[in-house]
Amino acid sequence: MPNSLLSSFEFRKALGHFTTGVTVVTVEREPGKIHGMTANSFTSVSLDPMLILVCVDQRAKMLRLLQKKKRFGISVLKQNQQAVSEYFAKREHSLEAEQRLGIHMRRTLGGVLVIDGALLQMSCKVIASHLAGDHTIFVGEVQDAEMNEGEPLVYFRGEYRKIARHS
Ligand SMILES: Cc1cc2nc3c(=O)[nH]c(=O)nc-3n(C[C@H](O)[C@H](O)[C@H](O)COP(=O)(O)O)c2cc1C
Repeated sequence: MPNSLLSSFEFRKALGHFTTGVTVVTVEREPGKIHGMTANSFTSVSLDPMLILVCVDQRAKMLRLLQKKKRFGISVLKQNQQAVSEYFAKREHSLEAEQRLGIHMRRTLGGVLVIDGALLQMSCKVIASHLAGDHTIFVGEVQDAEMNEGEPLVYFRGEYRKIARHS
């Protein structure tokens, strides 16, 4: 009897039925330069202390950076930032591509680099990490949060969506 009656393809497809927002996790890999990774596994964990989590693939470059640097930014993307999500879901990044896409960084009050123009920007500190299958769960303590006006980018069944307002 197999452990699961689902194939990995069916499992991914099933999970895609849970609608999420889209975030970019950022780590300052060297002064002024970030590595970013698109992530929709972002979840709130605790109110007191203020904790969030994000799950990172063992193969992602982001994994080692989070383990090493311990500080990261979370930028919740706006609906007009789909290109930003697509860009940070790629493995190869360049300054030229960032300039072409109009991706700019700014520092939070806590001094962490985040994506300019995002709906929500937070500075976090890694306080725990747990290996879970082929991902690692990083628990972050939130140090500050800046919220902006606008609508979120939404991810559902492997596609980007927009929220429609009921009249
Ligand atoms: C909408 C969306 C959500 C994603 N969420 C995650 C996630 O939560 N965790 C993860 O490890 N990868 C996630 N990915 C895949 C990574 O963004 C992608 O594998 C990236 O290239 C890994 O970054 P790195 O290896 O350059 O650090 C997501 C991709 C998309 C398009």
